[in-house]
Amino acid sequence: MQKKIEYYITGMTDIQSLEVDTLKGLSSAPKYLLSKYFYDDAGSSIFQEITKLPEYYLTRSEQEILENQKDQITDAIISNNSRFDLLELGSGDGVKTKILLKQLVQKRSDFKYIPVDISSKANSDLVSDLHEELPSLEISPLTGDFFGLKNSGNFSGDTRKVILFLGSNIGNFTEPEIDLFFTQLYDLCRKGDKVLIGFDLKKSPDIIMNAYDDPSGLTRKFNLNHLARLNRELEADFNLSKFEHHTTYNPVSGYLKSYLISGETQTVTIKSLGHRFVFNRWEPIFMELSRKFDLPSIERIASAHGFSIEKHFTDQKNWFTDSLWVRT
Ligand code: AVJ
Repeated sequence: MQKKIEYYITGMTDIQSLEVDTLKGLSSAPKYLLSKYFYDDAGSSIFQEITKLPEYYLTRSEQEILENQKDQITDAIISNNSRFDLLELGSGDGVKTKILLKQLVQKRSDFKYIPVDISSKANSDLVSDLHEELPSLEISPLTGDFFGLKNSGNFSGDTRKVILFLGSNIGNFTEPEIDLFFTQLYDLCRKGDKVLIGFDLKKSPDIIMNAYDDPSGLTRKFNLNHLARLNRELEADFNLSKFEHHTTYNPVSGYLKSYLISGETQTVTIKSLGHRFVFNRWEPIFMELSRKFDLPSIERIASAHGFSIEKHFTDQKNWFTDSLWVRT
């Protein structure tokens, strides 16, 4: 039987927050849209296709880590054998997590899996998939973004927590968002609780640029789908063919940034906002930050927020790390 998916309180409906954030982003200079809104049903399935691209090395690198080191990773998660809540932020299709879940179930560890995702479809697909593949697994999914989780009232006080934040989703956060996120994570955890975080590491800029500007144009389609979503959900009239996809990489900061650039001066009406927005010729909309890290910056982030690093699990090429932290 499939469990009902619970929602935690954000104060606004999905469509209201999309409206508020879109109005704010397109009224700003420079214009921006928030990357969390990539993941409507269409966007989630385009992203799933991206993870299979030869150029998009991130998913494959992390999969290699989890496959090759699942035994050590799950031992570290199980640690003293006490029951735990396994919370996953941004669970998506769960392909990678299943590697760990299978191993944990095999080791007969006592835990409940709590996947949190912004897409309710991704969540319900994952739940039915796991009911098939791992019928004994206890699951209670949550739909929403990651901030404010603690106040959602979904966590039993005494159970220790292990939190998964895989796939370099952390790369989407700006510096202040990283601060807010880890401050909240610190509050959510107790001393000894663990988090496993996937960081994409700095590497040759060519390899990075290719992953976000693939020749098949799928990443372009992923970005344009954000505008298509605004057309669908907010009655906007973006003409997708009038925007160019462009990415930049700064090897010092490790910031990979994606933009959609208006090829001509144009006006876009967003009916449900009751607003018109002027786009000048070559004016960019900042779409996404996909930050790349190095080990010293990861260590700085951990220690600045009350965590110590237990171990870095890296792939053969050292392109990606799943970093295991302990709350101090
Ligand atoms: C899901 C946020 C990790 O930034 O690499 C893929 C999203 N954007 N291609 C990333 C994404 C363009 C992805 N994350």
